Amino acid sequence: MMNMKKAEIDNLGIPPLAGIVSYEEAVRQTGYSVDQVVNVLKRLNYVKKRLHQMATAHLATTPEWEIKCALGYHLWLDSEHCKSIRERIGEMREPPLHLDEVPDQRLKEMMDEAIHVETSLELIVGMYNVIRTEIIRSIRVLLSETNPIANQPTFRILKIILMEEQEIAVWGDQAYQSLTPSKEKQLEAEAWKNHIQYMLHAAGGITQDLQPLKKPSGTKRSNEKKYEMDAIPRRDHRFKDSFNQSATIDSYYKDENRPYHERVFAMIYKRLREMDVPEWMAPILYKTEDKPWQYYVDLSRQLWDEVRHAMLGEIGMYSKGIPFYKYPVDLKASMTLNTEFTPLEAHLLLWHIEQNLMPQATGKQYEWEVAKQSNNPVAIMIQDYDWADEVLHAQIGRRWLVPEFGKIKDALEKGAPLRERWAQSMKVAGDRSKNQPWWPELVDELNMN
Ligand SMILES: [Fe+2]
Ligand SMILES: [Fe+2]
Repeated sequence: MMNMKKAEIDNLGIPPLAGIVSYEEAVRQTGYSVDQVVNVLKRLNYVKKRLHQMATAHLATTPEWEIKCALGYHLWLDSEHCKSIRERIGEMREPPLHLDEVPDQRLKEMMDEAIHVETSLELIVGMYNVIRTEIIRSIRVLLSETNPIANQPTFRILKIILMEEQEIAVWGDQAYQSLTPSKEKQLEAEAWKNHIQYMLHAAGGITQDLQPLKKPSGTKRSNEKKYEMDAIPRRDHRFKDSFNQSATIDSYYKDENRPYHERVFAMIYKRLREMDVPEWMAPILYKTEDKPWQYYVDLSRQLWDEVRHAMLGEIGMYSKGIPFYKYPVDLKASMTLNTEFTPLEAHLLLWHIEQNLMPQATGKQYEWEVAKQSNNPVAIMIQDYDWADEVLHAQIGRRWLVPEFGKIKDALEKGAPLRERWAQSMKVAGDRSKNQPWWPELVDELNMN
């Protein structure tokens, strides 16, 4: 280190350097150059982008409701983190940016392999125990190697990402614990962990300072081709009769002959069933390639909002003492859209539905007004925020979808026949159930609680 004479500085008693760091530390931390920081940020951007893809590839098919919820949240955070990192790279003397190029073939091989999971446990192990752990480690390295004044805008972004990654890690650890109750499960987890970790180390990690590990046993699952996602939506063993279409909930909450508490509960149930939207948006995100990054940010936000709507339904059920999986939670929409429609058709249908939620007298405002009549504070809160989110979604659809078809009018026209085709598919899917009525039982339970 440079030998310095310590200066006596009169700072008038006010913290110098905007309170960010002391003179001593600021002088000590000379660390990474601009080029080195850009290099690491590009690697971090790449890994996060691939994590985002991994979540979109597995959200629908992963059966556990709670994992779907977390994937929806974390993939949105990843999209936002990539956005900030990409913008920062653009500020660092960088054009051409090459933000969507592979920065390191070995990192690519690791991510190509990590997406090839066969169980929820492997998904958690690869994503959280190995890759996100490395993200936290690499951010700490970068923060310690970079000057907090010279590189302050990077510092700020990384501190935010680190904070969110640490929260994610708490969830990841707990999910891992729950999924490894036996020695056998722990060994299964260990095997996949070693496999991915070996590849991560072969790439040197994100900051290129990890040492190679001894090659574990186990064969590679990936090849040069893009991973084919399984778009069939699945729910775990707690959910039953997911194709039952006996309850026409949309008509119940509009039915003025029903008491307000039942109408409001029909809306809460409608929120709960919105898990099918993330299940059908995730494949749209995975399969739609080469869009500007903002497309992935916007659609990920919308996906996360729809997860939140389902969770608001879950909360509404909880407020009445009813487990969210007790009665049928519809799977027809995501099943049919993911298997019989193209991503663009599925997106157009989604936007079509959301456009139709906008009219005051029949749409989201109406739902909120029905909720207000019930004096149920949970329901009022749910509908209030749900309405705000849906206005945003209609805008997102207009921004990304309408240009595919020309004008709004054209997009709306293209959607109409699709809706008919979809209704037919849904009807056929509904025949998978004996369609025993279940809504009256739920209403009885509501009346008791
Ligand atoms: Fe929604
Ligand atoms: Fe929406």
